[in-house]
Amino acid sequence: MRGLSGLEPIARQHGLKVISDSAQGFGTTLNGRHPLHWSDVQTTSFFPAKPLGYYGDGGAILTDDDALSSALDSLRVHGKGKDKYDNVRIGMNSRLDTLQAAILLPKLAVFGDEIEAHNRIADRYTDALRSNALRVPTVMDGVVSTWAQYTIEVPDPTAFADALKKEGVPTARYYPRPIHMQTAYEHYPIGAGGLANTEDCIDKIISLPMHPYLSEADQDKIIAAARTAI
Ligand SMILES: Cc1ncc(COP(=O)(O)O)c(C=O)c1O
Repeated sequence: MRGLSGLEPIARQHGLKVISDSAQGFGTTLNGRHPLHWSDVQTTSFFPAKPLGYYGDGGAILTDDDALSSALDSLRVHGKGKDKYDNVRIGMNSRLDTLQAAILLPKLAVFGDEIEAHNRIADRYTDALRSNALRVPTVMDGVVSTWAQYTIEVPDPTAFADALKKEGVPTARYYPRPIHMQTAYEHYPIGAGGLANTEDCIDKIISLPMHPYLSEADQDKIIAAARTAI
């Protein structure tokens, strides 16, 4: 961690590590730097719907801390020690399937181009859809987003989705219930005010089709359908 984040002093004060969960944002940069520059550990997911996805379940943990890397490597394979038949800690079976890993290699080679394509599409959507009746997403100065989703805010997402469906355009409402409102977390304390911004947008957000191979003709069809709907 190299002091880029306001979280760092808080983490240091309390003896905590900072983890960047990049499952939805692997490839994202801030002022040209990846999250590992301001966190101790970066994680990502290779689930098919993710920016760098393959055809099954899996993920990766990145760190430049040698001791942590070696502990994680051991935990990944049943807690192995130097001798693989002597487990030195309680671990798990978290091996990445070799065939799936092979699929990642050519995908990694085009990953940078795919991020650029995502950004071109997001810019086209944003330029065409910015209006009073529809709130488009923004990114912080200096950030390159990977646009895992392109999510907008509309007054009535159900009516919006129905209208787009009639034009043959699919939409999705990801994560309709935020974690802090899910049953498993109902007994955990919630800070004053809850998560006001999250709670405010739950019933307004909906995502448009977004993948790097979306043709301009399809983008135009999506834009036209969204404009008609609002
Ligand atoms: C931000 C974030 N972190 C972690 C995960 C979990 O990834 P996985 O299902 O590969 O464990 C997800 C999945 O949607 C996610 O969106």
